[in-house]
Amino acid sequence: MDIMSNQVIPVDPPYPVLIGQGLLCHAGELIREILGDCRIALITDSNVASLYLETVTRSLETSGYPVSSWVIPAGEASKNMGELSLVLEFLAESGLDRTDAVIALGGGVVGDLAGFAAGCYLRGIRYVQLPTTLLAAVDSSVGGKCAVDLAEGKNLAGLFHQPSAVLCDIDCLATLPWLVLADGMAEAVKTAILSGDELFALCRRPAEPSVLREIIDRCLTFKGEVVAADPREQGLRRILNLGHTPAHAIELCSGYTVSHGQAVAMGLVIMARAGEVLGWSEPGLTGKICAVLEHHQLPVRAPFQAAQLAAAALRDKKRKGTQITLVIPVRIGEWVEKTIPVTELEAVFAAGLEEFHDCSN
Ligand SMILES: NC(=O)c1ccc[n+]([C@@H]2O[C@H](COP(=O)([O-])OP(=O)(O)OC[C@H]3O[C@@H](n4cnc5c(N)ncnc54)[C@H](O)[C@@H]3O)[C@@H](O)[C@H]2O)c1
Ligand SMILES: [Zn+2]
Repeated sequence: MDIMSNQVIPVDPPYPVLIGQGLLCHAGELIREILGDCRIALITDSNVASLYLETVTRSLETSGYPVSSWVIPAGEASKNMGELSLVLEFLAESGLDRTDAVIALGGGVVGDLAGFAAGCYLRGIRYVQLPTTLLAAVDSSVGGKCAVDLAEGKNLAGLFHQPSAVLCDIDCLATLPWLVLADGMAEAVKTAILSGDELFALCRRPAEPSVLREIIDRCLTFKGEVVAADPREQGLRRILNLGHTPAHAIELCSGYTVSHGQAVAMGLVIMARAGEVLGWSEPGLTGKICAVLEHHQLPVRAPFQAAQLAAAALRDKKRKGTQITLVIPVRIGEWVEKTIPVTELEAVFAAGLEEFHDCSN
């Protein structure tokens, strides 16, 4: 085992984030230091189960943990109230009490669903995130936002519940299909646009293990600081939604056939281009963002009209009455929040979809 980075997310209570190699084989001993004695319910998905469930279960059992496991079907379609209900029934049938814990082994779907279940089972028990996708490693495993999708839109039912620890084993990234790896890069680019040139430059490098480790480390440091400043998203934390108003609309319009990461890539471009067209952002910013996304073969053009996206977005939870707040990238490392009447959202999306401000500019 090689622990390459050991951060603490400074919320109340603070929790450790370990990044390294060989962590899953040693999950039992690492988790014992954090949770002590308890029963463990391990939640994973059908793809991750065939790759890593046995390794993690064996390590936990070797460290003396009684483990029961529950496997959900892989994919965004499992992030729903039906699967949540099944997980809760499973926790009850496994006899978990308030002192016990859930482990989320998987990507953002497993993390969001298992975190939600841990957050409401017995009014909240502890959980640990073992992210296995780049997206979960750079973003969703930290911060405690847990949710499921409703027919009306993404993440519409959920809660805030911080994990007790995050163990990020970068060896898992080796088995990711490249499309799923690229999804994670989209969230890393989002964080880079907010945090500044150093992370942005890293995102332009080939996605080798050493680069990915550095990207994960920097993304989680940035996210940890933002989450610590505003754990329940009442102010600053809203910046982490950069690109997500159009992204969630794209996911909804596509019937969730477009992945979250791909939708985020298109959403980042829409907000940057809208910022440029409307005079809020530095000229050339869209081109810079498109170049880094295309370097990871991420899509930069949304296959929907502004009117469709605006209608979908206005069903989204971030709408407050007659106004909507958007995060606009000004330049790499700088952003601004713009609150506009909901009636103007379509025009902003139309600006973001304008053809003449092509990426080649
Ligand atoms: N809570 C948050 O703060 C937050 C932040 C960003 C995104 N999200 C959510 O995260 C979800 C997307 O997460 P995701 O992109 O990780 O998707 P995912 O969890 O569906 O994983 C993508 C695919 O990769 C497979 N997989 C996972 N790990 C693997 C591995 N190591 N090797 C091979 N295959 C593997 C999964 O089975 C799945 O088929 C969305 O629902 C999004 O809303 C939440
Ligand atoms: Zn996201």
